[in-house]
Amino acid sequence: MTYRIALNFEDGVTRFIDCKEDEKVLDAAFRNRINLPMDCSDGVCGTCKCRAESGSYELGDDYIDDALTEDEKDDGLVLTCQMVPTSDCVVAVPVASAMCKTGQSGFTATVAKIAPHNDAAIVLDLEVEGDAPAFLPGQYVNIGVPGSGQHRSYSFSSVSGASTLSFLIKRVPGGLMSGWLDRATPGTQIELTGPLGSFYLRQVQRPLLMLAGGTGLAPFLSMLETLAQAGSTQPVHLIYGVTRDLDLVLVDQVEAFVARLPNFSYCTVVADEASCHPRKGWVTQHMSPEALNAGDVDVYLCGPPPMVDAVRRHFDAIGVQPANFHYEKFTPSQPAQDRAA
Ligand SMILES: Cc1cc2nc3c(=O)[nH]c(=O)nc-3n(C[C@H](O)[C@H](O)[C@H](O)COP(=O)(O)OP(=O)(O)OC[C@H]3O[C@@H](n4cnc5c(N)ncnc54)[C@H](O)[C@@H]3O)c2cc1C
Ligand code: FES
Repeated sequence: MTYRIALNFEDGVTRFIDCKEDEKVLDAAFRNRINLPMDCSDGVCGTCKCRAESGSYELGDDYIDDALTEDEKDDGLVLTCQMVPTSDCVVAVPVASAMCKTGQSGFTATVAKIAPHNDAAIVLDLEVEGDAPAFLPGQYVNIGVPGSGQHRSYSFSSVSGASTLSFLIKRVPGGLMSGWLDRATPGTQIELTGPLGSFYLRQVQRPLLMLAGGTGLAPFLSMLETLAQAGSTQPVHLIYGVTRDLDLVLVDQVEAFVARLPNFSYCTVVADEASCHPRKGWVTQHMSPEALNAGDVDVYLCGPPPMVDAVRRHFDAIGVQPANFHYEKFTPSQPAQDRAA
């Protein structure tokens, strides 16, 4: 029996390792050539302290309170030199991957399908050669734009372990990746690095409120599929906001989760004043008190940077602070000359 442990480093790099039964995470990482922070390796110094984001494990009682207090343990902190997983786990490591002598991994994939949705978005499917990459639902990968020496970041909309990777990509007029996708043909090879990011679905312990802005829907498709496959019964409400009517893409995929996730609901919102959509405005105008559950809710938000700021301001204004607020900003890439300046 082995367990899959996702080590999520401070710089967003994620490495997956297999941990044998009764093996400590620190030892499993070392076996996989990842040098997690450590000193005594004996539960005394506390140097190996990390946060277990999800999964079950045992810590035993061979460590001292100076290394890990009872409160820290209750708060989800662990000593990796003592931690023996009893399920798959996600462990947040509070240092950069390079400090642990590891880093991003790269892989090659082939364009399988490019499906445009009006002039709003493109669904890109890539077929992976060899082992399908593991990632946490919500994470992203850097995709090289062939022939340009540049890459762009895209959130997986598919689930970990599938050989077909799916992405939902906004069509940006004059955009490097958007332009390449207009010309690309199935069969083209493409380079990827990742998985990356700290925006991923944590252990579900309370109702979830998901806020998607435009193609920010992508990571939620991955999260919802993961929840459906796990048979989750926690309430999940998704608010999917877009600028124009034609930006509302893949609503049929969202709708399909209503039948598969027992407590899933969603609504769509269009900002365009000229739209005939039944719900207009911003996602903040359509957050019901039920969805906010008096703050006992984990909020996940993915979209353009101004949306993140607007939602933060909204929580302050209504005096409701969610138990957890995780977000991903789809920050546009800087042109190469600006990066150099
Ligand atoms: C962590 C992360 C995850 C991301 N995931 C996704 C995803 O799943 N789906 C997705 O569609 N995008 C995603 N993005 C954004 C994506 O990486 C690119 O920035 C975007 O696709 C534009 O790339 P491009 O090469 O077509 O345009 P570029 O050549 O980068 O940009 C061309 C011009 O358009 C401007 N521009 C760029 N993006 C936008 C925009 N959204 N709206 C208006 N103007 C813009 C640029 O400033 C520039 O002037 C993500 C970004 C980050 C940081
Ligand atoms: S390495 Fe010292 S407590 Fe774990």
